[in-house]
This record gives sequence, C-alpha cells and structure tokens, in this order.
Amino acid sequence: MHVNMQNKKIMKNIILFGPPGSGKGTQAVKLVEVFGLKHISTGDLFRFNMKNDTPLGKEAKSYIEKGELVPDSVTIGMLKSAVNENMDAKGFILDGFPRNIFQSESLDAFFKEKGIELSGLLSLDVEDDELVKRILNRGKTSGRKDDSSEEIIRNRIAVYSAQTSPVFDYYAKVNKSFKIDGLGTVEEIFERLSKKIKEL
Ligand code: C5P
Ligand code: MG
Repeated sequence: MHVNMQNKKIMKNIILFGPPGSGKGTQAVKLVEVFGLKHISTGDLFRFNMKNDTPLGKEAKSYIEKGELVPDSVTIGMLKSAVNENMDAKGFILDGFPRNIFQSESLDAFFKEKGIELSGLLSLDVEDDELVKRILNRGKTSGRKDDSSEEIIRNRIAVYSAQTSPVFDYYAKVNKSFKIDGLGTVEEIFERLSKKIKEL
C-alpha cells in the first residue's frame, strides 16, 4: 500500500466510461501497462463466470444475452470482491462500472469506507452508428452472443442512454467527469486518455 504523510493512500482511481463499443476495454489494457493500475472489468468478470458456469455466471447470463443490466446486488458484490482482493494496487481502472446511479452511490460509499478516492471519470465519446459498426465487427471474433445481433446491440446502447449516461452528470456535479474524443486510432485515443490521467 502506498501512503503519504497524512497516511492517505496515494492511488489513481479512474472510471473508464462510455457506451458499449467505445473502446474502454482496448484502452484499459494499454493504460494498465503504462500506469500500473489494476483493471477491473465487470463485463469480463461476468463472462469469466459464465464460461465457468458458476452460480453468479448462471444468474447473469439471461440479462447479458438480452443486453440488459444484471441486478445491482450481484454486480456491486462482484465489484467489491474484486477491489478487496487487490488493495495492494497503485489504483484501479473501473471498466463497465458503475452502470447506473445506484451503482455510483454504492461505489462512493464503498470507496469512502476503504479510504479510496475517485480521481476522475473519463468518458469516451463515440456516436451510435460507429458503435454498432465496431461491435458487429468485434462480434466476428469475440464469440459474444450480445455482440452478434444488431437488435441486442441497439438495446445495449438504449440501456446506456437511459440508465448509464446519467452517471456522467452525477460525477460532473463534483467536477470529476471528463469527455474524451473516442474517434481516431487506438494510439490517438490512448494519448488523449494518458494526458488527462496524468493531470488527475
Ligand atoms: O461492459 P461490457 O459491455 O463488457 O458488459 C457486457 C454486459 O454485461 C452488459 O451489456 C450488461 O448486460 C452486463 N453488465 C452489467 N452491469 C455492469 C457491467 C456489465 O449488467 N456493471
Ligand atoms: Mg468492455
């Protein structure tokens, strides 16, 4: 654990935000290499559980395959375990969480209890048609059911607009939300994110 003179943990804790297909996972993998943070992707954790047919995986499956959100209690419990198991990290990149206001409030309470401070939320900005194009393309190799039908993809984007996008405004109220242009090459977007993270 890294501590400073006030005995506060020196960590960088980022929410990597944006609609499905905006590049969160791709960028998170690159960012952890440079910043040495722990990447926690709730989507990846669900998929791991589904692959291994765990009780959590079984519960999540029906929601995920329709493009709906898994119930908060399941998702929040899973996120907390992942953080608790990695408290020696220099910080976290949360990818895919929080997905609604209730999850944001729960995260704030949990971080407070752990003495963790959120550094900021970085939101990758990409328009809907580009998202659908990217996800359908990813679906050719991802093996994900929720990547393979335009109907499910559009539903995921609709769920994002209705339930998830308010999370940006929620953290904007405490000046912690930042928009990042999510169009361009992987490298260009990575540079934009890195520059912002260094400022936080
Ligand atoms: O983040 P990702 O797009 O990989 O998530 C895939 C699916 O997992 C989402 O469409 C949703 O069904 C589920 N999920 C969720 N709540 C989260 C993260 C993911 O319900 N916080
Ligand atoms: Mg992802």
